[in-house]
Amino acid sequence: MFVKILGSGAGGGFPQWNCNCANCRAVRAGAPGFLARTQSSLAVSAEGANWVLLNASPDLRQQIAQTPQLAPSYDDGVRASPIKAVVLTNGDVDHISGLLNLREAQAFSIYAANRVLDVLAGNRIFDILVPELVARIALPYDEDVALAGAGVDLGLSVKAFPVQGKIALYLEDKSAADFGTKVGDTLGLEITETRTGRSFFYIPGCAKIDEPLAARLTGASLVFFDGTLYHENEMIEQGLLGKTGSRMGHVNMSGEDGSIRAFERLGVARKIYVHINNSNPALDASSKERAAANAAGWEIGEDGMEVRL
Ligand code: MLT
Ligand code: MN
Ligand code: ZN
Repeated sequence: MFVKILGSGAGGGFPQWNCNCANCRAVRAGAPGFLARTQSSLAVSAEGANWVLLNASPDLRQQIAQTPQLAPSYDDGVRASPIKAVVLTNGDVDHISGLLNLREAQAFSIYAANRVLDVLAGNRIFDILVPELVARIALPYDEDVALAGAGVDLGLSVKAFPVQGKIALYLEDKSAADFGTKVGDTLGLEITETRTGRSFFYIPGCAKIDEPLAARLTGASLVFFDGTLYHENEMIEQGLLGKTGSRMGHVNMSGEDGSIRAFERLGVARKIYVHINNSNPALDASSKERAAANAAGWEIGEDGMEVRL
């Protein structure tokens, strides 16, 4: 099974268009140790020919252009794409708006929780993906669902499970304590290759590593995990946004409740941070935060990184 990080950045990417934080300035200036990152998405293939995208970022057009495997083959018909399916983990802008890049009357399948399918149904711009060609399939929880699209069996299955998270930012109900968040607003995914039984987890948004999640991930061979912020208060301290990591629905890398600490006892063979926000000090390859994450066995995801499982 082939897994490729199309975009390792969080919403806004790195650098973010309107951000002048120290990291964004450094990456714009080409400073050593800083790599630009597009927004959050992975591509997966069992055999290397047909692919499923995990989330569709606003940078998808650029990501496809930078990824030869996602271009039509020379021998294909005049309209063709190896992208046969897209699985969505939530309804945030950085994860669904790339669907609009997949217009032009091409058949594929969209898999998502009902809560996220409702978001697509409620926004008529997504009707550009006509139902006759683009199937919308509701994901049940904790069941393996075979992935297919445009009449092609991908040789992969997805098991979706709710994780702690938050409703999409633009749908927040500010008068509700949890902003109107419901089960299914944030999913984790386990992708399994049918032929070999090999599997990995993809959890780009997660507010808390609770016991059921810790149990599920124990002994996993590969996990791509929410690396949005390093410190709970880094956005506030850098003067960027008056929000903590918790308020944004993302567990931090550091701290007693952080992901570095929580994964210490899980025995995960390979763990890679994705959905990394531009404010995160671990983006600087020479930072003490990068060194601490690496020392704890974490890799900092990069665009174009490939894992063969
Ligand atoms: C998030 O991950 O918190 C969202 O992508 C925020 C946003 O929509 O900008
Ligand atoms: Mn996001
Ligand atoms: Zn920035």
